[in-house]
Amino acid sequence: MDYLKITGGTKLEGDVVITGAKNAALPLLASTILASNDVKISNLPNVVDIKTLLKLIGMLGGKYDHNINEITLNTTELNKTEATYDIVKTMRASILVLGPLLARFGHCEVSLPGGCAIGQRPVDLHLKALEHMGAVIEIKNGYIAATAPDGLKGATIVFDKITVTGTENIVMAAALAKGNTTIINAAKEPEVVQLCEVLRDAGVSIKGIGTNTLEIVGNDRKLLEFKPFSIIPDRIEAGTYLCAGAITNQVLKVTNVIPKHLEAMLIKFEDMGFKILREENAVTIFPADKIKPINITTTEYPGFPTDMQAQFMALCTMAEGVSIIDEKLFENRFMHVSELLRMGSDISLNGTVATVIGTPNKLFGTDVMATDLRASSALVLAALVAEGETTVHRIYHLDRGYDRLEEKLTNLGAKITRGKE
Ligand code: UD1
Repeated sequence: MDYLKITGGTKLEGDVVITGAKNAALPLLASTILASNDVKISNLPNVVDIKTLLKLIGMLGGKYDHNINEITLNTTELNKTEATYDIVKTMRASILVLGPLLARFGHCEVSLPGGCAIGQRPVDLHLKALEHMGAVIEIKNGYIAATAPDGLKGATIVFDKITVTGTENIVMAAALAKGNTTIINAAKEPEVVQLCEVLRDAGVSIKGIGTNTLEIVGNDRKLLEFKPFSIIPDRIEAGTYLCAGAITNQVLKVTNVIPKHLEAMLIKFEDMGFKILREENAVTIFPADKIKPINITTTEYPGFPTDMQAQFMALCTMAEGVSIIDEKLFENRFMHVSELLRMGSDISLNGTVATVIGTPNKLFGTDVMATDLRASSALVLAALVAEGETTVHRIYHLDRGYDRLEEKLTNLGAKITRGKE
């Protein structure tokens, strides 16, 4: 297994080019199951989760020509409809093939994702919505066996909770269903918006893009003709590098970003005393005279993203005062706390609320364990300012979602090396 060794206390400075968003690329790759033509995609992130989904598409019979950040896929000869346990256990987002496979073939079998480090994470809302569209769903031997022999039918879906991949699955299913689907309480994350735009450009009528109500006119199982497209920039990668600038209190610029997607985080940086320069495709963070504590509540877009909670917690350890972080989306997304405590931070937990008493210049390097993707990046951030050397073990979590992390941090001046144990 790989680990990262980081020597704290170096100055970080410079520009980082942000990669395409993993969480946009995953549903978009799954959506190519609905395509009648070769689909050309650029700005694809080079991360393990993308390779995992490509492996799954390959197992289903899809073909692709993949060159780091560019890919051309052809799924016209798909001949399997099963997403096996082996794949789904390594990446829950494999559930994204459920909607398109069922819509296209009228049946599919997808391993039921188990819990994960950040919580139980059920998929009941995906399944209920598909049932409203006429699917018959059975859970057999750990698999979701879904059938819709006469095809899916348009329906009105009301999500009890806003779900990102749930919305994406139903948008893809509705695109090939017979009749109109209305999704009420839909997610409106930028990644959902791009999926809707790509499907709209492929000929599906979708109204309400970017709002909580989507109206989709189904294509009655007629495959779609996709146009080439480029994946939107990764707002979580951008936010993580801005946190690297903030925690080391240096000037750092992220380029190839859409600043409006980062707004909830940028306002928190400003509340903490950092100055922010917003340009058309770039954001620069400037040092704070004094890093102030903040209060954060994670919520759906355009609110503060849960995927940035751990990184901001690491940053709050450098604030002069007490920060309060309320994690509203996932019940167990505080696995990084015990590791940050091992580095000398002062954090206490009460249910969904973490209280962080700032301990500027008091963190020290030690051995820590990465527990999930974003928790791992919080440990790397803390290591950048810890005294001495930190070893972050089990960084396969980081490799799932960060493209060339060590290379990008090294270019900014960090002392970071990868090793094997
Ligand atoms: C996606 C993102 C993930 C992000 C999360 C929240 C991808 C691949 N992953 O995950 O990085 O942290 O959105 O922004 O895009 N829920 C149910 N039943 C369901 C579905 C969800 O109860 O059927 C609950 C979840 O447990 C959670 C909340 O709804 O409490 C939101 O989860 P959801 O938006 O579905 O997260 P994901 O789509 O899995």
